[in-house]
Amino acid sequence: MEITFEKATAFKDHPDDSALGFGTIFTDYMFNMDYSQDKGWHNPRIEPYGPIAMDPSTMVLHYGQAIFEGLKAYRTESGGVQLFRPMDNFKRFNKSAKRLCIPEFDEEFVLKALLKLLAVEKDWVPGAPGTSLYIRPTIVAMDPYLGLRSSFTYRFFIILSPVGAYYPEGFDPVKIWVTPDYVRAVRGGVGEAKTAGNYAASLYATDLANADGYTQVMWLDGVDLKYVEEVGSMNIFFLIGDEVVTPELTGSILSGVTRNSVMQLATSWGKKVVERRISIDEIFSAHESGELKEVFGSGTAAVISPVGNIKYQGKEITIGDGNVGPFAAKLFKELMDIQYGKAEDPFGWIVKVEE
Ligand code: COI
Repeated sequence: MEITFEKATAFKDHPDDSALGFGTIFTDYMFNMDYSQDKGWHNPRIEPYGPIAMDPSTMVLHYGQAIFEGLKAYRTESGGVQLFRPMDNFKRFNKSAKRLCIPEFDEEFVLKALLKLLAVEKDWVPGAPGTSLYIRPTIVAMDPYLGLRSSFTYRFFIILSPVGAYYPEGFDPVKIWVTPDYVRAVRGGVGEAKTAGNYAASLYATDLANADGYTQVMWLDGVDLKYVEEVGSMNIFFLIGDEVVTPELTGSILSGVTRNSVMQLATSWGKKVVERRISIDEIFSAHESGELKEVFGSGTAAVISPVGNIKYQGKEITIGDGNVGPFAAKLFKELMDIQYGKAEDPFGWIVKVEE
């Protein structure tokens, strides 16, 4: 399939790299591709960024058949542009597609399309420390139809957004809120898929957390309301004694690319990394006994986000002295150094964008 290109007639001003937030600015071009039952995925094209015309009855607006990914392009010191583990994102994207009854796509082809889009848009990759070009591949159901079934047509698009830190706190510790009253996902549900509804399901409890002065919700499992699953938009890690513990993937937790990278890095440093069920009570007991050294989240948008406080059933604990722990700091630095091409990439994670 040939990827066509339509030149833009107007171009946007580039933002000041040193003042970037998250997800508000979009580049000049986007990638689009359509799906129909007779043609399969077809008409791949790079064209000016712009609205998608939709009939009010378009299925995604009613039944949420939508999936997305998040990955980033980084500016290296020598002025190059590189991606971090893009194929892992596209593999997960296809897994989400399968779970949401969306037709799968050719991962190699989509990587090629992304590289082509980035070659066009490489001047949009910011260079200030900690900034990057956030990449949001998305697929939505496009049939204009109100009956409940999976759609017969889809739109695949990729948009690009120059970003700084995801949380206003930057790399400062975030305050986390835990509730037994609301869950994000249940066993057998779609928690493992990166689908829009999971994020909608997280909003109400997050508003309650924010109103109580906390940044994010740490979700408990939907069956026992006891085991930690993930935090807001991140996976979660606990440094207990000398062991790195993260919730095992039970089907209701997103299998994070950054999560996996943290596990590989920590293992390569000789740390014992354990994926297992871990209850909120165990975390509070480990804190009580002094064994809980650090807590931090991992995600593409957030990178590594240290957790300073956790509140559960009216009781708040402070992790360590409430500041960034040395292990999270080391992980953050090493991950960023690999992503920005400042450190070697022994794991083969980097894909360079052609100059
Ligand atoms: C990401 O980390 O890339 C995500 O998709 C999370 C999103 C809520 C920003």
